[in-house]
Amino acid sequence: MAKKLLVVCMAAIMAVAALVAGCGGDQKAASDNKVLKVGTNADFAPFEFQDENGKEYQGFDMDLIRAIGEEMGYKVEISNIQFDGLIPAIQAGNIDVAITGMTINEERKQNVLFSDPYYKSGLSIIVAKDNNDIKTFQDLKGKKVAVQIGTTSAAEVNKIGGVEVKEFNSSADTFMELRAKGVDAVVNDRPVNDYYILKSGETNVKALPELLTSEDYGIAFAKNN
Ligand code: ARG
Repeated sequence: MAKKLLVVCMAAIMAVAALVAGCGGDQKAASDNKVLKVGTNADFAPFEFQDENGKEYQGFDMDLIRAIGEEMGYKVEISNIQFDGLIPAIQAGNIDVAITGMTINEERKQNVLFSDPYYKSGLSIIVAKDNNDIKTFQDLKGKKVAVQIGTTSAAEVNKIGGVEVKEFNSSADTFMELRAKGVDAVVNDRPVNDYYILKSGETNVKALPELLTSEDYGIAFAKNN
């Protein structure tokens, strides 16, 4: 009797195991053609940038989203979109997610959902090495400052008041403007400012230690997703 029960039990276990294995297999096959459409503004090293040939997308965010895609069984397709066009692209359904060093804030939460925070950032200033006027954010009053359009830098520098804010399409453009002496300072996310100083070989600029904000980056996606 006991032996009979054992045989029945083993058969049941084997049947369940076969079912589980079968399901897993089917899921894998179905996922092979699933695509995650990712938008980024690929001019924000070290989070997203393109290699020298302007082809391969690289950086912290790119590695992260590829790892997430792999985990989900999705093929990751990345498109380069202007920063202030990313939330509209999510809302229009042209992309599934935006990963682009995007700060989670209340204003954006009206339009998109965010993942859990994945990186803690904040804003810092870069000035010419021989600039002794600007030491803090308050010192930007009455000065010309370059920021990227649609970013928290643009919003925060405008809040200081009395700053002549010049808005550019990319952080690379803000650095170029500083080099060309079109502005007195640049405000960007600190890791981006620090990476620029480290990698550009630019020796005539310095990053100031003050951090204006504490910001969390999140991955954005549609409210109905
Ligand atoms: N963290 C800032 C923001 O959310 C700047 C992000 C800019 N990102 C970019 N890929 N250009 O506004």
